This record gives sequence, structure tokens and C-alpha cells, in this order.
Amino acid sequence: MSNVQIYTVAEDLKSLLELEKAKGGTIGFVPTMGALHDGHLSLVKRCKDENSLCVVSIYVNPRQFNESDDFANYPRQIEVDREKLETLGGLVLFLPTSEDLFNVNFASPKVDLMGLDQRLEGASRPGHFQGVMDVVYALFNLVHPSKAYFGLKDFQQVAVVQNMVGKLSLPVEIVPVPTLREASGLAMSSRNQLLSLSQQEEATLLYKTLCFVRDNIKSIPLSHILASAQELFSASLLQLDYLVVVDPTTLLPLTEYQENAHCCIAAYLGKVRLIDNMAL
Ligand code: PAJ
Repeated sequence: MSNVQIYTVAEDLKSLLELEKAKGGTIGFVPTMGALHDGHLSLVKRCKDENSLCVVSIYVNPRQFNESDDFANYPRQIEVDREKLETLGGLVLFLPTSEDLFNVNFASPKVDLMGLDQRLEGASRPGHFQGVMDVVYALFNLVHPSKAYFGLKDFQQVAVVQNMVGKLSLPVEIVPVPTLREASGLAMSSRNQLLSLSQQEEATLLYKTLCFVRDNIKSIPLSHILASAQELFSASLLQLDYLVVVDPTTLLPLTEYQENAHCCIAAYLGKVRLIDNMAL
């Protein structure tokens, strides 16, 4: 008997969730786009530990992709994902349909995030965060979790979702979970599957650059550090999109070190977009 219960119909899931709440249980939720790796599983473990029922969703959300190729090439492997979840067991896998998420009654959450969603990833991927907010809002409306788990790998996503939840007074606690990395330092990502082994080695430059900024920011002027980092990228196969040190709350760029400063990086390796970040 499988110890992962699969739901594809929102109405069926609703009955289960109502039953759990009636028993006094708590619903924890991990939204994903699948192609699961250990980073995702660390969120699921945390969710299982802290709630009587853990719901994991897989839905490759077209609204958050701003390039149709990227959406088409995104890895999809539900059966492998299900097997990975089986190793943890005791959870609900929700595979929502677009009709359940975005039916005629759906209205996009319109919140003014004071530019938070327009910077960094938002600037490079117009419309991306509205797409993320749409799907997270729609999923929350179906799952009604008391806690939802998000990885700090997507640092800006955590900030955007936390702000949306705050502005709309949604009754859910957003739990940020640390980034899981390969032994090489490369942040685990579903997109790493699209890279060859040698490209994955090349991609460790993102992590190395973050460490370089962290290790030097208190002794060398930031502009010099960023210039040196840019040279490293020019000599590599990666194309740097941005490398910025920001305030962790506003995500506005800093020109010098301050306490809690955070470094965010994005680069392309071929067509594959990679992001990472680090507290300094
Ligand atoms: P996805 O990229 O599948 O990631 C699902 C969750 O796993 C996100 O919260 C992400 O930050 C987290 N995650 C990814 N890599 C991680 C790592 N190496 N360590 C820890 N956590 C990691 O993010 C999305 O999907 C989507 O935008 C989604 C929120 C599901 C909305 O569509």
C-alpha cells in the first residue's frame, strides 16, 4: 500500500482537510513545481515534523514563466517524484488542475509590494512574481494551510510571498527553510538537471562568487569586489545577469556593507537560468 495519498480533485482534498481540522490537526503545505530533489525534501521533512498533515503540491505554473521555451523545457517527472516522496511517506500529494486553481471565480491578488517584486528577478523576468503570487494565492485558497514552507534558495520569492500574506492578512505562517547545496556548493535546483556534469561544475562559480563577496566585504570596497567578480564571470562560460548586495528587507542595492546585508546572484549557462544568494 502506498503511503503517499494522491489527490487530483480539489473537492476531494477539501473533504480530507476538513476532517483533519475537525480532529484538531494542523495542515502544513509545501508548494513545488516538481522534479524534486533533496532541497525540496528538506522542506517536506520540516513540514511533516511540524504538522499533523503535510500536503505537497506539484504544479508547473505557466503564469510565472516569462519564456515559453523555459516552460516547455522545465523537467516533468511525476512518477519519479512520487517515488521520492514515498521514501518519506505519510503525506498527501496534490496535483491540482489549472481549472481548479484558476477557475472563473479566480481573481489575481493585487497587492502593492512597493517595488519588491520589480527588482532583481522581477526586473529580469517581468511578470514572474505576479505569476508566483497568483498560484500561491490560488493554492492557499484550496489547501488553507496553517504553515507553508518556502526555500531561501528563492530569497526574493520568500520576501514577496511573506509581504503578500501580510498585506492580505492571510491566516498562514510562512516558514523559510535554508538552502540545501551539493557537496560542490552548487545550490540544488530542478534546473541543474538541464546541465551536463561539466556545466554543473562550471555553475559552482555562483556559490564561489557569493563566498568571495562574503569573505571580502568587510575589508575591500564593495565596488572593487563586484568588479573582480565580474572579471571571473567574463573568463567563464557563464553570463552574469546580476550580482548585488542588498538590504534583506527592501532588496534595494547597497553600496557598502551593513549588518544583515545579503548578496544575490543570477547567471545564465547557455539557456539555463541559475540563481543563488547568501547572507553576508
Ligand atoms: P520550485 O522551484 O519547485 O521550488 C519549490 C520550493 O522548494 C520553493 O520554496 C523553493 O525555494 C524550494 N527549494 C528549491 N531549491 C531548494 C534548495 N536547494 N534548498 C531548499 N529549498 C529549495 O519555487 C517554486 O517551485 C515555485 O515558484 C512555487 C512556489 C511552487 C510556485 O509555483
